[in-house]
Amino acid sequence: MTIIEAEKFGADKLKKVDITSAILETEVLLSAILNQSKELILANPNLKITKAQEKKYKSLIKRREKFEPVAYLIGKKEFYGLTFKVNKNVLIPRPETELLVDEVINFVTETKKQKNKKTKINIIDIGTGSGAIAIALKTHLPQAKIIATDNSKAALKVAQINAELNKTEIQFIYSDLISKIKDKIDIIAANLPYLPSEEKDSKNIFSLALKYEPKPALFAGQYGLDEYEKLFRQIKNLKIKPQVIVCEIGPTYINKTKKLVKENFPNWRLKIKKDLCGKNRLLIIKKPG
Ligand SMILES: C[S@@+](CC[C@H](N)C(=O)[O-])C[C@H]1O[C@@H](n2cnc3c(N)ncnc32)[C@H](O)[C@@H]1O
Repeated sequence: MTIIEAEKFGADKLKKVDITSAILETEVLLSAILNQSKELILANPNLKITKAQEKKYKSLIKRREKFEPVAYLIGKKEFYGLTFKVNKNVLIPRPETELLVDEVINFVTETKKQKNKKTKINIIDIGTGSGAIAIALKTHLPQAKIIATDNSKAALKVAQINAELNKTEIQFIYSDLISKIKDKIDIIAANLPYLPSEEKDSKNIFSLALKYEPKPALFAGQYGLDEYEKLFRQIKNLKIKPQVIVCEIGPTYINKTKKLVKENFPNWRLKIKKDLCGKNRLLIIKKPG
């Protein structure tokens, strides 16, 4: 089988199950199997692949036809310009989560400008999964101390590997949200599970792919707010409160989300930011003063 034949074979199969980016995906899979850049693959359509490569490719196409995410098939995902190892124990980092990283970096930069001082800032990434947020932050804020928690030991293992791959030093802690944290925290970043439980049974193409990701990374009760409710209670009990809390949220129950914030942080300033699709995606909760 040549590269062009393999592409046609894969694209036909994937189009049949309504995968719109079928051609692009076949290129990504071939590039991973041949361990070559996509450019090289595209430049050599008549190159023959070996029987072993063909077998592997066909097995990946078969898995993709059942909507297993490409990132799991190739074992990696790009996020914030960095490469992360991913497996079934961690959520695949999403492009919209880059907004959260941007927001934290902007906050640190602005605070430094205003206060014009060099104090070491402590940032915590809660529910770190693959470590994507923590590692992206450390890469861009090398002076900050970054702590990352998760209540999945399997996820923390992946995050630790990713920290090493990206040459960043992060303190990983196995913890229910921030319950094990002893340090003073300046900034809280969290992308906790936020899908409402009703989405578990949805049969759309996105939900079909979700079944491959760890459930505790996705769903959080009837309104998708259970973990944030618990987190806000834990923050309220901290002696020294953080300057800012930045959370990624689901857009479905936005009024309930706002109410939850107001109940827990009545005097704090709440700003909601939309993602590139125009959906409410980020909560930025700032301490008064
Ligand atoms: C939506 S995933 C986000 C993963 C990663 N931060 C990202 O943005 O790609 C949520 C993560 O929170 C973790 N998690 C869920 N409940 C938690 C809890 N109570 N304490 C700590 N981590 C929790 C899950 O194991 C999962 O890794």
